[in-house]
Amino acid sequence: MFPKEVYTERRKRLKDLMGSGLLLFPGNQEASYNYPANTYHYRQDSQFQYFFGLNHAGFAGLIDVDNNQDFIFGNDVDIEDIIWMGVLPTVEDMSAEAGITNTATYGSLTIVLAEALKQGRKVHYLPPYRGDTKIELSDWLGIAVSELKANASVDLIKAVIKLKEVKDSYEIAELEKAADIAYVMHTNGMKLCKPGIQEQEIAGTMEGIALALSGPVSFPIILSMDGQTLHNHYHGNYLTEGRMVVIDAGCETLTGYSSDITRTVPVGGKFNARQKGIYEAVLNANMAVINSLKPGVRYYDMHMLAAKTMVIALKEIGLMKGDVDKAVAAGAHTLFFPHGLGHMMGMDVHDLESLGENYVGYDETISRASEFGTAYLRLAKTLKPGFVLTVEPGCYFIPALIDQFRNEGKYFEYVNYDLVETYKDFGGVRIEDDVLITETGCKVLGKPIPKTVAEVEQTMAEQGIRFTK
Ligand code: GLY
Ligand code: MN
Ligand code: MN
Repeated sequence: MFPKEVYTERRKRLKDLMGSGLLLFPGNQEASYNYPANTYHYRQDSQFQYFFGLNHAGFAGLIDVDNNQDFIFGNDVDIEDIIWMGVLPTVEDMSAEAGITNTATYGSLTIVLAEALKQGRKVHYLPPYRGDTKIELSDWLGIAVSELKANASVDLIKAVIKLKEVKDSYEIAELEKAADIAYVMHTNGMKLCKPGIQEQEIAGTMEGIALALSGPVSFPIILSMDGQTLHNHYHGNYLTEGRMVVIDAGCETLTGYSSDITRTVPVGGKFNARQKGIYEAVLNANMAVINSLKPGVRYYDMHMLAAKTMVIALKEIGLMKGDVDKAVAAGAHTLFFPHGLGHMMGMDVHDLESLGENYVGYDETISRASEFGTAYLRLAKTLKPGFVLTVEPGCYFIPALIDQFRNEGKYFEYVNYDLVETYKDFGGVRIEDDVLITETGCKVLGKPIPKTVAEVEQTMAEQGIRFTK
């Protein structure tokens, strides 16, 4: 946990933004895997943890804005808990660490909320995303599960985003830590990309590194020679010369902060000419954006800068043709780059997404596009110092998409389909970094992970850790 003043100050700022009402933050419970007592690795709710700090199951937080009081509801461990799980400090002692002196049993929250509702008080809550939290909220507030999302507090959503989107120095230190561990994961992972090795061995080694040095992975590792499938979690292929491997992986720190980094490497460690061409098209886009990031810049414009940079390179290769600006304006780049440039990152790898992507990534000045490709852009709004986001352009050869666009007669003016056909066995390339917006520009988080062709080739020439079967 951070110093208790951090949590007290966060709650104070939230109260100032909200002005009145009760703010209810259910913590996460344990989640069962395949039978009740066999649980997943415990993960606290990011919003509860941000305002109340406690990283254990069985708590809820309540902020009474009108009376300026903060409460933790939870039960002290009993002898059975101690026998099976060990001793924990009392709820009172743990709450004190978050600057809270008002504590009560978990069960008493039902009575407190029923009383508040009887008095006609407004209870604000965020959209729930776990089944058991939905059931509890439904019971507490008398709202049907199916109506919970629609009744979530937009005022609270906006206030929480306003506070959490700007990271403080404690959070930035955690995000740096997560990125540094991703360095160890990725450098080891790329060294293992040799012909004959199964993808699973590399993914498992990288996940093991995350667990050995930090928390778990921040999302299931994406690692595949079939990188044209954007979120490919199948790791059954054996690597073969001439293919590339997309590795998109990161970890969480013990306080829940994430990293989310992608590197794409040639099996065997040497780029051939075709691979180098596509790789550098993506690298140019990644670097053009990083070199342009600063407060006041709209991320939508960065997405378009990435698209344009990539089209220029694809034109040099001969895959695209015609006027670059017109090609991007028409959306021809989406054949190769069908996703958004990036997203906010923090405690959640797609930060705050459970509150609604459009509230996090868009504002009054810009709303989500409806066109294919650009509609997947999760972050488009104007950047502020303290934002942490990903820069993750990619270029993919998705046979089904190529066939579809060609059959629909799309973008014949800008796409050289005959050459594109010869790339249907290529896969894809994505290069992703985690970046902090500073007062004057930006900073790529963590120890630099090899990224240029020369850096990647040099690292891949080294021996990686192997756990052979
Ligand atoms: N790792 C998923 C993403 O890059 O957003
Ligand atoms: Mn990623
Ligand atoms: Mn990402």
